[in-house]
Amino acid sequence: MKPANSILSGFGTTVFEVMTRLAVDHKTINLGQGFPDEDGPDSIKAMVTQATKEGPNQYPPMLGIPELRQAVAAHNNRFYNMDVDWKSQVMVSSGATESLAASILALIEPGDEAVLFEPLYDSYVPMLRRAGANVKFVRLHPPDWTLPQKELETAFTKNTKLILLNSPMNPTGKVFNKNELELISDLVNRYDTYAICDEVYEHLIFDDVKHIPLISMPGMTDRTVRIGSAGKTFSMTSWKVGYLTAAPKLMSLIAKAHQFLVFTTPSNLQRAVAHGLNNEEDWYTNLAVELQTKRNMLEGGLTEIGFDVLPTAATYFMNADFRPLGFEGNDVDFCRHVTVEAGVTVLPVSALYSTPDVDHLVRFCFCKKFDILEGAFDRLRNFFARRRPA
Ligand SMILES: Cc1ncc(COP(=O)(O)O)c(C=O)c1O
Repeated sequence: MKPANSILSGFGTTVFEVMTRLAVDHKTINLGQGFPDEDGPDSIKAMVTQATKEGPNQYPPMLGIPELRQAVAAHNNRFYNMDVDWKSQVMVSSGATESLAASILALIEPGDEAVLFEPLYDSYVPMLRRAGANVKFVRLHPPDWTLPQKELETAFTKNTKLILLNSPMNPTGKVFNKNELELISDLVNRYDTYAICDEVYEHLIFDDVKHIPLISMPGMTDRTVRIGSAGKTFSMTSWKVGYLTAAPKLMSLIAKAHQFLVFTTPSNLQRAVAHGLNNEEDWYTNLAVELQTKRNMLEGGLTEIGFDVLPTAATYFMNADFRPLGFEGNDVDFCRHVTVEAGVTVLPVSALYSTPDVDHLVRFCFCKKFDILEGAFDRLRNFFARRRPA
């Protein structure tokens, strides 16, 4: 048969799938997978049932039901003081992933350049390349992940169409600060480009750090797409309800891609998410408080075992350098090793770079129940105690 599209078929099986399979085979405690093991608020589950019973269960409006679009606009206003017209500036999508895909498809012409920070979330590059973009990577270096100004400036050229910014950032746990956002918005304006902002972790922030949406920076309103996810905000990752906010012209372009991708998103879930955004603010702001305690617990536990832990200010991911434990091998070897021998699965951070040369870090996911985290510590503590020479 004729070969399929070479860009997507070239990606092969991801290390995430490999590790997940290994975790299942070895019945491990899986701290690799990036999703919570407890569901979000009961009231929104009840609303799904109510909305399904009440109906109609037919195609809802293409841009999303008014109730949810109004709730997203009001949420933008409450948290970031943004003045958003729900009719022309808000669109509901099937997860943040679809908002990202629709934004990329709406903006990229073959040959355009797109600037990305790495390490990065894995859906960006396949989608950008499939749309025909040349991707320029700007690397944030561990342990502090500061933004390299010169490299970022060099990455922008007259061919740059967009920058894709993920803040708060998976996997680094970095929240881009005002100075960094000023630098980015200055370049976006200077080179007349767009910014797609993946802000799915906007509410999972610790230590009173403030998230500033790039869209709220001077000159950015017309050029920026701000993307959120009910999956992350309400710990309901299977629901795949996302929402984006953009200027009317930009939003109507993205809506064209959305129209032909999925057209719409289940109406019962939309009603439930609207209810959540309007009524469950305490729930999702307290989630960050609980996650901060888990973050502290993980940091303490891993440090005690002998990892060199990198600070994380947001998300539910923590990175740790395993070299102080005396392990010889790269991060993929380490992940296989602790999965098979210690019964705990984590993820190799090299998989989140374009080239796997940063290979001494592993990513722990800490949105798990306290006793699961304790269990993982016990296993790792015992395992590394046994490995240590007497
Ligand atoms: C940075 C980032 N963006 C987007 C997503 C996907 O969001 P959704 O499930 O709403 O499509 C994830 C999920 O892990 C993520 O980490």
